This record gives sequence, structure tokens and C-alpha cells, in this order.
Amino acid sequence: MQGISYLKFFLSISFTLCIICNGCKTEEPYKQPEGGKVISREVDMSWWNDARYGMFIHYGIYSVLGGEYIGKNVEGTSIHFQSVGRNNDKSDSVKIGAGAGAEWILYEASIPRESYRRYASSFTAEKYDPQAIVDLALSAGMKYIIITTKHHDGFCLWDSDVTDWDISHTPAGIRWNHDLIAPLAEATRNAGLKFGIYFSHTRDWMHPGGIGPIPELQMKEYSYIENQSYMETYTYPMVAELLNRYHPDIFWWDSNNPYEEFAIRCNSLVINSSSTIIQNNRISTLPLYQGDFATPEQSMNENEEYENVELCMTMNSSWGYNQFDNDWKKPEYILWCLLRANKLGGNLLLNIGPRADGTIPEESQSVLKTVGQWINTNSDGIYGTRKSPLQFNLPYGPTTWCKKNNIQHLYYHIFYWDGSGELWLPGIMNPTNEIELLFPENPQLTFQVEAIKGIGLHITGLPQTKISEMCTMLDIKFKNEPNLNEGTREINNIIHLYALGAQIENVAIDDFKTKPCINWYSGRCINYKVIITRAGTYDVSAQLAGYYPGTITFNFENKQKLTGNNKATFGHDNFEWQNMGSIHLEPGEYKLSITANQVDLWLKIREFKMKRQ
Ligand code: GLC
Repeated sequence: MQGISYLKFFLSISFTLCIICNGCKTEEPYKQPEGGKVISREVDMSWWNDARYGMFIHYGIYSVLGGEYIGKNVEGTSIHFQSVGRNNDKSDSVKIGAGAGAEWILYEASIPRESYRRYASSFTAEKYDPQAIVDLALSAGMKYIIITTKHHDGFCLWDSDVTDWDISHTPAGIRWNHDLIAPLAEATRNAGLKFGIYFSHTRDWMHPGGIGPIPELQMKEYSYIENQSYMETYTYPMVAELLNRYHPDIFWWDSNNPYEEFAIRCNSLVINSSSTIIQNNRISTLPLYQGDFATPEQSMNENEEYENVELCMTMNSSWGYNQFDNDWKKPEYILWCLLRANKLGGNLLLNIGPRADGTIPEESQSVLKTVGQWINTNSDGIYGTRKSPLQFNLPYGPTTWCKKNNIQHLYYHIFYWDGSGELWLPGIMNPTNEIELLFPENPQLTFQVEAIKGIGLHITGLPQTKISEMCTMLDIKFKNEPNLNEGTREINNIIHLYALGAQIENVAIDDFKTKPCINWYSGRCINYKVIITRAGTYDVSAQLAGYYPGTITFNFENKQKLTGNNKATFGHDNFEWQNMGSIHLEPGEYKLSITANQVDLWLKIREFKMKRQ
């Protein structure tokens, strides 16, 4: 024990001296190392692709602060800093931080290292309960768990041999035998789930030489040589410790690393440790070192093509625990995000941010369980699914796809039950004797199906009240090959373009309880595929709500364009149908891209309608 502490002390002193000598100036430009390139190898991703849903945990010293810091910043000025939650209503004597990065508070409030270090004594983890976390993940329907072993504040949740800035110097360390990772890894694996490690390999504000702007240095950056030294002294040995001690199934790097040398070293540590370990693309920003899967954050662009992708998302707006952030996402929205990620052939990694004592905010627990209950009944539409053959969505939601025992299933996730007693499946062109339809929530339900020429399947005789509260899943089983020709068509002289049917880029769906709408942000694009079978002029209208006026442009693959004016409806709940003008279209298949230009930036859209004159 003494030997280890001495080693740690020696390392930190010698490194500090090296930093003092080097100062903060930039050294010679980076030179590409000699020798062949090591690029991540082909790895079997099948378990990961079958899993589709995992839990992310952000836990560390920042959990003690919970988004609030009262003290002096690095300039010595007294501040009271709060990481913003959207419901923040504290008095204006408070310096409200930009963003809601609870785990970024050291950086955002420019907290001196010395002051931040003191919070370690309040990190108790007295109610940390790995089994309860695993039980929560199980009841949520999650198949893997990834925890922050070291975030950007450099603090290690295991007893590292190369730093003192770790769990063993906190009350939590005493309580938990110097290790919060091992008991979680064990409980996770005992439950049959996979275990992953998040590790901030480059950005580090506490250890000397960490990459990126450093609050302690008034946001200056260490030189490349100092970065190199940091990687040698801390990152590589820590990664080796984590790999050797916990044998993770996933290694989740974070964040920006523009240097090939670091990517090569990190990559070889991981791939030489196991033939099955999977790593994410944040190992580096270089195209050659992109790991095994992409990691969009908070939202996804449906237009992007991914081979393997995992959307990571918070349940409120913060990753780490933030006492001011009550902006909890609704279960319907989380389910929609999950199914949309699955539709694109990807996973959802959904975050919880425990408090310093280890307890998990009740709101997140209850949302996780609600979604988990739904998954329990409709699991076929999630686990084992692969990218949907439908690039666009059906009118009321996304589809997921799976091949089981040589039979193909398309699962339609209906997030809006319109009460009409009928349902359209445009673009599914198989005759009715080639398909079987089933609502897993009510397998006994009877209804009629008809194949309508040129449109697709038409279901009638359905109940007017929804089958499932959050989302109704329809299992479309193909006895032969699916015959698909997706696209929105004219039905009774009207082309309906619903919010849930849109292919959207990084915008959210809202109002699930009433009629779902797109919470649209100016500049972001909404796409549909529209199939016109006979020439005609259409009157275009939109059902929208917004505080200010603006314009909406409908672009039919640059062949035809229409720009309409929308008027203020004086509220985000006051929906109105507004006329956008008319457009003539010749027969053909069009990708329709709709953009908005609004005074206010925000506009809610429930539906567009194109009515044949
Ligand atoms: C970002 C943030 C970080 C968070 C992570 C999760 O890189 O820096 O705070 O842990 O994303 O994806």
C-alpha cells in the first residue's frame, strides 16, 4: 500500500515538474508515427445488435455538486454557479451556467482543482446498490450497462495505481473496498447482461497534460508533448488496469482525440485485450480510427447511413446528477427514440445520473419502468431487430424489422390512434394471403384487411380506443418475400403527411398524449416520400402552432417548389390549419423536403395536407 502511494506521489511530482518546464505553449506540430496503421478489426457485433437497448450511468465527484457550486472560480472571484435545468427559477444573483452539463461543472464554473478535490470527502456512495441498478436495468428491458469509470474531471471510480485522484480517497472507497466498478460488473454479469466501461481518455481537467482547454490554466491547453506525457503516465496504464480488472464487453471512449498516435495506442490496448471487445468511435476524430460503432448524442439524423450506431441520450437534459434539472422526458418520447434508433439498425443507450449517495432520481426510475413494461409485451419488435427496409416511416410511426425462423416480420409502432377504426399501410403491396397481421397486446383482436391496388394494405374494423396506451405494435408477418414500395399516396383525393410519418433530422416529436407533432426548429429538414399517380394541382395546408409568423418551403426534388406563409397562432398549443398555396405535380416518385424559416425558430407541426383540386 505504502509502495503504491509512493509511486503515485513520485509520478505526480515528476509530471508536475515536467509541466512546469514545458509551460503551456504548443510544441512542434504533430508528426505521424512510422510503421503500419492499426485500425480496429472486424469484430462480431451480433450480441450488441440483438441487444438494442442499454443503460448509461454517469456517476462521479460531480454527483456531489449536483449542478451547484458556491465558492471561488480559478480567477479568485466568488461565484454561485448553477448548471441550468430548463425549469431553473432561482434568483438572478446566481451565475447560471451555459448548458446543463452537471458533469462539466468543474469546467463551466472554472472551479480551482484544489476546491474541487475537497468534494471527494462527500462522495459517500452509502446507498449505492449495484444490484438495484441491475434490477432497474432489467425492469427497463435493457441488455447492457455502461458506467463512467473516469469522466473529464479525471476522477477514477476504481483504485488506480497511477493516481491518488480516485475512489480509495473517499468515504465511498472505504465502504466499497476501493472499487465501485467491480461490484457493478459482477451484478451485471450475474444477471446475464453485458458490461461496458466509459473512459475519458483524452479530456481531463485534473491530471496534468490532459487534452483540451483546462480551467485551472485559464482555459489554455497543454502542449502536445505534455499531452503525450499525460497519455503515457495516466491514460495507457489506466486503460490497461480497466481491461485487466474488469474485462469489459464494451469500451466507450470519450472524447475528441485528433491525434493518430493516441488512437493507435488506445486501439491496440483494447483489441489486444480480447477478441470480442467492442469499442465506440470516440477513440478519435480521424476517419481511420472510428472503432466499431457511431455515437450520435441526444438525437439522430434519419438521413444518415450507419453501419452500427448507438444513440446516447439523457432522461432530462443532464448526464450527471443535476438537482435543478427537472426537464424529464416523457416515456412515450423515450420509447419513440428507442424504436427510431432500432429502425435505423441501432441501439439506444439511455442515461441515469445517480446522486452522490448512489440513489437514482425517482423520476428516471419510473419512466424506465413504464417503458420497460411496454417492451415486455412487445419485445419481438425490439430485440434482435435490424435496420428496417422502410427508409421512411409509416403514417403513425417507425417500423422495425426482424427475420425469425426464415420468416420476415415488419413491426409497425403506432404512436397515434386516430379513432377512425381504420389503419393504412401504404407501400405494403403483398396480397392479403401472403401476410398475417397481429397486435401482440391483443392477439385475439379481429379486424378486416384489404389490399388496395396502388396504395397498400387497408385495415378496418379496429376499435376506436387505442389498444395500448403508449404505442400499439402491429406485427406484419410475411409468408413470402415482402413486396414493398414505400411512399405516401393519395387516399380519397388527399395526401396526408403526418408528423410521425416524417423522416426528420435532429428534431423532437412532442404532444404524444394529444396528437403528436414535430417540435420543429428553423433550418432543420423534414422529409417524406410522396408518390403521385396522376397529374394534378394540390392545395397544400399545414396544421401548426407558433408564436410568430414565418415561411414554409416544400421542395419536390427541385422539380417543383412552393413557399407558403404561416401566421402566428399565439401559442404552442393553439393549433390551426393554415393554407400554404397550391402546386401542380406530374406523376412520379418525389422526395419532398420541407424547411421552415421562422421569426421565432420554433414551430410545432402536426400534419401537412395536399388536397387535389
Ligand atoms: C459528451 C460530454 C459528456 C458526456 C458524453 C456522453 O462527450 O462531454 O459529458 O459524458 O458526451 O455521450
